[in-house]
Amino acid sequence: MCGIVGYVGGKRAQPILLDSLKRLEYRGYDSAGIAVVGEGVQLFKAKGEIAVLEASMPEMEGTVGIAHTRWATQGKPTSENAHPFVGCNNKIAIVHNGIITNFMELRESLIADGHKFTSDTDTEVFAHLVEMNLDDGDLMDAVRSALKRIEGTYAFAVVADGGDEVVAARNESPLVVGLGNGENFVASDVTALLKHTNKVVYVLDGEMVRITRDAVTITDQEGNRVERKPERIAWSLEDAEKSGYPHFMLKEIFEQPKAIHESLLGRLESIGAEGSFFQDQSFSSVKIVACGTSYHAGLVGKYVIEELARVPTTVQISSEYRYSTAARENPLVLLITQSGETLDTIAAAREARKRGNRTVAIVNVVDSAISREVDHVIYTRAGPEISVAATKTFVTQLIALYLIAMELGIKGRSLTAQARKSVTGQLRNLPRAVQDVLNQAQTIEALANKYHKARDMFFMGRNIHYPISLEGALKTKEISYIHGEGYPAGELKHGPLALLSEDSPVVAIAAKDHTYEKMIGNISEVSARASPVIAIAVKGDTEIGKFADDVIYLKEIPPLFLPVPVITALQLWAYYLAKARGCPIDKPRNIAKTVTVE
Ligand code: G6P
Repeated sequence: MCGIVGYVGGKRAQPILLDSLKRLEYRGYDSAGIAVVGEGVQLFKAKGEIAVLEASMPEMEGTVGIAHTRWATQGKPTSENAHPFVGCNNKIAIVHNGIITNFMELRESLIADGHKFTSDTDTEVFAHLVEMNLDDGDLMDAVRSALKRIEGTYAFAVVADGGDEVVAARNESPLVVGLGNGENFVASDVTALLKHTNKVVYVLDGEMVRITRDAVTITDQEGNRVERKPERIAWSLEDAEKSGYPHFMLKEIFEQPKAIHESLLGRLESIGAEGSFFQDQSFSSVKIVACGTSYHAGLVGKYVIEELARVPTTVQISSEYRYSTAARENPLVLLITQSGETLDTIAAAREARKRGNRTVAIVNVVDSAISREVDHVIYTRAGPEISVAATKTFVTQLIALYLIAMELGIKGRSLTAQARKSVTGQLRNLPRAVQDVLNQAQTIEALANKYHKARDMFFMGRNIHYPISLEGALKTKEISYIHGEGYPAGELKHGPLALLSEDSPVVAIAAKDHTYEKMIGNISEVSARASPVIAIAVKGDTEIGKFADDVIYLKEIPPLFLPVPVITALQLWAYYLAKARGCPIDKPRNIAKTVTVE
């Protein structure tokens, strides 16, 4: 996830672009850059936060420009990989938010044609394509021709030497035009525009736009004019910092459909490819090692890998794995870490290599420390996560695990072509299943308001939903400060029942699978101890309402994939409990997002 902005007007572009960029910093902050059309295309990029760019860049004259704040997905966060890109001869500059999935083949063919590349990014191919096509004259036409060769997602903004326009285009990444007086803007988000205007026009997928000082022209990809009325945004500048959400956590939960989509993009097609990392390994089992929420993702991963690939899988907390005895085994070791910086997980990666095992890291932050310690990295592409409580990074870790399970299933021949097709369809459906939960946020808030005074809260699940109950409990305790415990439903009678009372509600995950009847029995045991029960069940379940006090109904999908919408409901549950209790949701006391101590 990156942020882009473009400006054409009567004022100096540089300070305007910089200010707008700062308001998009939540979209990425590992490097940034700016291009202003003046004496040629002036370009400046820097690794680090926008403040670093601001402190080091020279003054640029010119009233047309584009800028970018990056969150790396392809290519390390370095100044070379920062945007804008200028092709071979500095005649144009482009910025991009999205992922070009066919960049490898384009890059090879452009290099064969003599183009010189300066970065490892997917984006740079587009600069060369536009540059090549600009020989024909018109920038909009050049961009249109270049787009025809691109596959993937994008919001692009492009300027050309000597030009008085910014041309932009969109496919699945956000793009909005801001209408000013004698000036116009494009940006990833209205937050970047609010200081200057609240009059905007949204650009839709497959559309292009040209902005000049006095005119805005939207077209489809064939060049046909599109008429769209401007809208007035009611937001204030303050609202904009979190894109209108009161907390980063809520914003990040609501970004989950998009994050899942990005994590799948271009990957399902290439699973099982001959010579790919997973197909080339030899190992007898899988060992997953992680901390905190990432550890819970690993626990879910065990069920997924054993179901789809039939490969025995164990899961260990990093700080325990590090100091364990190496058994006689040859596992493939998967290390899961959002930050890529957790010290115990990095040490675990080193230990795994010392034991002679092949290692794979599932990481969100590109080029973070762990990427140098392992044999192979899979990035989760969730975008920057700012709230301390992990949400969208957890669901994208699950996505990575489904993908790995498919790879291993194909390798071990336990995943038939038919099953592969079905899993692919289910994964593609997950953004919709999550959106269905998000649409019920108000219902979940009302329930959280009813139970927010609880002293203790238990979460119970069976099978793949046991680790989801652990994650639900972790979210609840870390942000609402209600004591929360996750349990396998069959275990409550071995201790926790002693603690149950009307002050300790129990959240029960009741998937319609082979454990359903047992779960109904467990709910009855709990109700008999006077604890209120809040069930998470699937729509169409007509039984559950007879046993539970309250029910959150989710769209029915196969049980193997249900953890993704269920955890979304539990994240919202924890969020609204914390909100009702007046807790500092994004920065809970005593805990940090990245733990670099042992
Ligand atoms: C901290 C964070 C958790 C996170 C854990 C592991 O405790 O507060 O949200 O799950 O570290 O972090 P990692 O970056 O390795 O996933």
